[in-house]
Amino acid sequence: MSLLLSVSQLRGPLLSQLRPSSSIIVRKMSSIEQFKQSPHKLLVIPGPIEVSDEVLFANAHPSVSHVSPDFIPVLGDCIRMMRTVVDTAEGQPFLIAGSGTLGWDQIAANLVEPGENALVLHSGYFGDSFAECLETYGANVDQLKAEIGSAVSQEAIAEALNKKKYKLLTFTHVDTSTAVLSDAKSIVETVRRISPDTLVALDGVCSVASEEIHMDQWDVDVIISASQKGLGTPPGLSILVASKRAMQAFSSRKSRPTSYYGSWKKWLPIMKAYESGKPAYFATPPVNLIYAFHASLSKITKSAPSLSNRYELHREASRRIKTAAKELGLNQLPLDSAFAANGMTALWYPDGLGAGDIIPRLLKKGIVVAGGLHVDAKDKYFRIGHMGITAVEKSRDDVDTVIKALEETLAEAAAEK
Ligand SMILES: Cc1ncc(COP(=O)(O)O)c(C=O)c1O
Repeated sequence: MSLLLSVSQLRGPLLSQLRPSSSIIVRKMSSIEQFKQSPHKLLVIPGPIEVSDEVLFANAHPSVSHVSPDFIPVLGDCIRMMRTVVDTAEGQPFLIAGSGTLGWDQIAANLVEPGENALVLHSGYFGDSFAECLETYGANVDQLKAEIGSAVSQEAIAEALNKKKYKLLTFTHVDTSTAVLSDAKSIVETVRRISPDTLVALDGVCSVASEEIHMDQWDVDVIISASQKGLGTPPGLSILVASKRAMQAFSSRKSRPTSYYGSWKKWLPIMKAYESGKPAYFATPPVNLIYAFHASLSKITKSAPSLSNRYELHREASRRIKTAAKELGLNQLPLDSAFAANGMTALWYPDGLGAGDIIPRLLKKGIVVAGGLHVDAKDKYFRIGHMGITAVEKSRDDVDTVIKALEETLAEAAAEK
């Protein structure tokens, strides 16, 4: 057997067991400084995003028990750091193996009882999916649909809330299919004015850590996210933070949660145990991914740039890409820059050009962007992600690289027509 290990991965007993005759080959890679991910195309889709060497190195942690004293504080720290990211003092985080979709399932299974009403604000593809998930668990769902490129108006929300009592209102903070950024603060204000008990859930899969979020100040009840976008970690972790109001609604439900794996009855004691430094088991956490998540969250919450500077850097990267696109004659999907996301850009193809003219050319230049996703306009636009290190680490030059490739691509495509 031949095993490649870095020196730093050799800890305690394992190190002492190594004999010169051992077939283990020790790769002299004593620290993160010597770890470099292999050259690859620049991934600028709206998630998964580029992940730093530090985070990938943390993911390569040797296997440890999920209930070992080494690991417990790592998950405990992640729980605490998630509170910082969404700016809440007492929100209850749930970090569970799964993708962003599991956040919808958790909300549907724990906060809505079969037959209760839910209102879904639709600003793109992900509204339909959230609605379908809620229906799967027996909720009565109404959707308010905005025209493509815009968000549901406060007037429309107020009218719907005046007509019917809803247990839950959901909205997609940034709909990844349209790059539309909803005005979270105003949505909650409208809900509290008309129907104060209605729970408000923010789908932040494409906004957490790239768009400003103040959970307590805005009075949001649930925020869901995933590891692979603004949170700068490989995919595989469902992240949810629930307010006190949401936890009270959960504990006063009459029927039991309608999911086994996603049940907060199961997960709440686990999250509390890890946060207080004690082992507990319901289902095995993704240990290595949690190490990676810890590395990314430490960077986001505990080192420069500060969280508020991060948001500013996302806004700056976004402005640069959107301005360059405009100069190249590319129009954005969002109808008004007031509701255009800062972590991604969605651009209509120019007249006479389509996906085949743009995406493969960018790919040849080493840039991976995403095609359209909104069911009504799938083939008419493409999307560029600029979250995490692409926006924050200017020395990478990712934004310049994307702009240059876009300029060349459009010139080549136009010349060929
Ligand atoms: C806004 C939004 N919500 C939910 C999801 C679902 O997340 P996942 O694909 O991680 O399950 C996505 C995925 O891109 C998303 O962008």
